[in-house]
Amino acid sequence: MYIGLDIGTSSVKAIIIDDEQRLVGSASADLTVERPHPGWSEQDPESWWTACETVLDALHERLPGELPGVRGIGLSGHMHGATLLGADDRPLRPCILWNDGRSAQQCADLEAGEPKFLSLGGNRVMPGFTAPKLQWVRETEPDVFEKLAKVLLPKDYVRLKLTGDHVSDMSDSAGTLWMDVAARDWSEDLLHATGLTRAHMPRLVEGSEVSGRLRSELCKRWGMESAPVVAGGGGDNAASACGVGAVTPGSAFVSLGTSGVLFVTNDRFSPNVESAVHAFCHAVPETWHQMGVILSATDSLNWLARTLGKDPAALTSALGAVSRPSEVIFLPYLGGERTPHNDVAVRAGFFGMSHGTDQDEVTHAVLDGVAFALKDCLVALGTAGTTIERVLAVGGGSRSDVWLEIIASVLAVPVDVPEDGDFGASLGAARLGQAAALGTTDGVFSPPPLAKTIHPRADLTASYADAYVRWRTLYPALKQAGF
Ligand code: XUL
Repeated sequence: MYIGLDIGTSSVKAIIIDDEQRLVGSASADLTVERPHPGWSEQDPESWWTACETVLDALHERLPGELPGVRGIGLSGHMHGATLLGADDRPLRPCILWNDGRSAQQCADLEAGEPKFLSLGGNRVMPGFTAPKLQWVRETEPDVFEKLAKVLLPKDYVRLKLTGDHVSDMSDSAGTLWMDVAARDWSEDLLHATGLTRAHMPRLVEGSEVSGRLRSELCKRWGMESAPVVAGGGGDNAASACGVGAVTPGSAFVSLGTSGVLFVTNDRFSPNVESAVHAFCHAVPETWHQMGVILSATDSLNWLARTLGKDPAALTSALGAVSRPSEVIFLPYLGGERTPHNDVAVRAGFFGMSHGTDQDEVTHAVLDGVAFALKDCLVALGTAGTTIERVLAVGGGSRSDVWLEIIASVLAVPVDVPEDGDFGASLGAARLGQAAALGTTDGVFSPPPLAKTIHPRADLTASYADAYVRWRTLYPALKQAGF
């Protein structure tokens, strides 16, 4: 038996799988995000641990016969969060999350002052990433910075609670921007640029390696006979890739979660900083990946649903199949954008509404707008030399066939849909736990059985290609108007 524990932005999810990777049980507990100032996004690290205790207690209660057999635990979590700990391992302040935009000035300063962020780090210094957040704390909260003993990523704070060790994996750590990503090690120069040293960092292991073992009091609490190993695990996107078997060069997926991600596996470190492509280590050894990341995917649809007082799924099912691109245009920049604009200040917009614009049309516009933003990611990955032949769809938004049909037609690639929607980060984490326990990655990361493939619709691809060209002209217009 293996447990996958995923620290998502809106919930913690635990799954338990057997040796054949069949789902045996799952539990989840909700989390909240605090936004104390416009553009800020924070979470209390203790709330992750409380949620982990809740879900593991629940699994223990529901499946008392299964937990004694757990041999490995894998972790995944939302990336880039700056969890600042004092010498007593307690958080010094709330964690600053991946979708927090406060550090734009620090990003510009770090890029100007240390060119190795682009070369060794391999990425634009974006406010979502960890290093500029630390620079913000250093400049704005010097009393906190002075007490700083360790910086951990969200899943690694949970690992500290589980095992007592400060450890991280390569895929999540690459998203801090303190790594020499090609060498899979911390960079003293990049750490120095934000006033830190290696001593502030956790030890690094591969995602599929053992990072430690579950503490004995927790083994007792959850009825585990011998202490399971805890694998390095991965950032949520690399872990999702492990869940869908996207670990071989060229394999790709699109994730429609709070954020939207177009992910592709590479056999080498392949940065393309001009188009704000993310180039990180993968969670399996000697493998890297590229991503285009958009900040508001299902977040855009959820925002619309909230505003209209409707359920998101009800909005998409009311829409039915589409016969043309939406007449209304939506730019999904509710919280700024990463790929390709690296623009934390830009805001979203609707264009072209008329007296006749109804709920279906704005829903359609939102689905199209997110699909066009993903096309921007595809184009950015293309300029990095990466061709994507087909993608697998994961995440909550992938339950909408109409959305996937739009995405297939906009990206002009087939979209594979797994049989069971549960092939996300928690399965990837559980598989990493299995790999660590078995001491091999062989045969662990297979692709899921497919329920169907959604092909680009021949009657839509040409009109969507035209609509994308028009959509692209509106970002400069938004900027010109001061958004
Ligand atoms: C990736 C990113 C998000 C978070 C939250 O760079 O910021 O995908 O990991 O899911």
